[in-house]
Amino acid sequence: MNIEKEKTAEIRLQKYLADAGIASRRKAEEYILQGKVKVNGQIVTNLGTKVNPDRDIIFYNGKKVEIKKKKVYLMLNKPENYVTTVNDQFNRPTVIDLLHSVSERVYPVGRLDYNTSGLLLLTNDGDLTYKITHPKHHIDKIYLATVKGIPGEASLNKLRRGVVIDDYKTAPAKAKIISTSSNSAILQITIHEGRNRQVRKMCEAIGHPVMSLKRIAIGDISLGDLPVGKFRSLTQKEIDYLKSL
Ligand code: URA
Repeated sequence: MNIEKEKTAEIRLQKYLADAGIASRRKAEEYILQGKVKVNGQIVTNLGTKVNPDRDIIFYNGKKVEIKKKKVYLMLNKPENYVTTVNDQFNRPTVIDLLHSVSERVYPVGRLDYNTSGLLLLTNDGDLTYKITHPKHHIDKIYLATVKGIPGEASLNKLRRGVVIDDYKTAPAKAKIISTSSNSAILQITIHEGRNRQVRKMCEAIGHPVMSLKRIAIGDISLGDLPVGKFRSLTQKEIDYLKSL
């Protein structure tokens, strides 16, 4: 199911008013017949009127009526080869396609590259999205990067001090080797900036291009053992933590 691409269903005006907590449907019908309800600036007295909750503006007794949307907070283990935009110009699969059974419209918090996997938060809470994505908040994001070759201490120190990418010097990062094989290494890199393809460019800058990249944490929120392609609701503790940032 693609939540974004699905059209929001129109509902009867009396149901809209009931869902918004104005009155029961029957009572709401009375209000409509009494001329107390406006849709997009026009008084409506026809009980068959349907409205689109995302598009139409409804007033009752001169006051705007809104349906409070339930706030939803999810984490997804994004697979490679999915875009984090809601609609893709090339029609590639989007992370929203993976949110089976979620009826609320949620949006990715920040982005991951098409070929990056791992932790992606999704929510319909715009205030929280703003908070987490705003650079001034300096929230650490932790990545596992499998890179070509095995960087030495001098190369890791470059990442730690900051490297120049696209004429910009990155802020000091944390970098350590988690494991090595004969011709590659897995690095754990922690950054709080979110420049386009930043980790890939940082590794490129020290001569160790990224072969695969996975985000494993955002602040104290960790991906844990959530399987690839699966999502879960955040716990209340995780939500409280994000709101406290
Ligand atoms: N850095 C990258 O290079 N890519 C991502 O998807 C995230 C961080």
